[in-house]
Amino acid sequence: MNRKLWIAGQYLKYRMLSKTKFKVHSPFVYQLYTDIILNNSRHSDFEKIEEQRSILLRQRSLLETTDFGAFSSGNAYKTRFRQVKNITRHSSLRPKDARLVYHLVKEAKPETILEMGTAMGISTMYIAMAAPESKIVTMEGCAVIGEKARENFNKFKLDNIDMVLGNFNNSLTKTLSKFDRLDFVLIDGNHRKKPTLDYFMSILPKLHAGSIVLIDDIHWSKEMLQAWNTIRQHPDVTVSIDLFKAGILLFRKDIAKENHILRF
Ligand SMILES: C[S@@+](CC[C@H](N)C(=O)[O-])C[C@H]1O[C@@H](n2cnc3c(N)ncnc32)[C@H](O)[C@@H]1O
Repeated sequence: MNRKLWIAGQYLKYRMLSKTKFKVHSPFVYQLYTDIILNNSRHSDFEKIEEQRSILLRQRSLLETTDFGAFSSGNAYKTRFRQVKNITRHSSLRPKDARLVYHLVKEAKPETILEMGTAMGISTMYIAMAAPESKIVTMEGCAVIGEKARENFNKFKLDNIDMVLGNFNNSLTKTLSKFDRLDFVLIDGNHRKKPTLDYFMSILPKLHAGSIVLIDDIHWSKEMLQAWNTIRQHPDVTVSIDLFKAGILLFRKDIAKENHILRF
């Protein structure tokens, strides 16, 4: 079956299974859902970033990019010319999901943040504006794309972002060694099952009861759904929340293991 059709089927299933706030019984998840996930409030930061996204979405200039994620094959990285506007359109978190990341970060006040998958830096900018005091490391395989993201960070004087260039498979261990613990992690790159599982297992020793992990594109493919289903069942994960596009993982010890599928 073609992937788009498969995703449409997954979305129908999600719409049938997902709960609204009236069906959430856990007080903790109810509060997280109503106060943060469904938080509709706007912030002037959003306008600044979305204005920048619009500028990028108009740029026809070509970048010679290297594919690292699900479109690459093994270590034989393919290079191709892509317009800035297309990279931005196809790679960046949607405004709605980026606002979710912002609200989660703003509320959780993480001191240490790791993002796997920078692209144009749209999600990184949401994170950095929500957490100007935090230590943020964002990882990107394609140096040319990373350079473009850096221009965006410089434009907004976001100087708490450290970018690590290189394939996650080679750079993650060293990057993790810079952290004693990770408070917030966004996994948004290399949408394949095994790498996603491997990245989760690599970051796990740095996570603690208060950590939040957000995995994007959990219904992007069968492989990503399998990875999500395996990860959410890990004994260290207590609460998992499927919002269709993204999944949230929590590790609190004071609450029973629960998986929620919530309307978003
Ligand atoms: C979906 S985009 C990230 C979008 C970004 N988080 C945002 O919302 O603005 C994924 C990025 O991860 C990078 N990537 C994918 N697999 C990678 C790998 N194995 N190593 C390094 N970078 C990788 C890609 O080059 C791409 O730019």
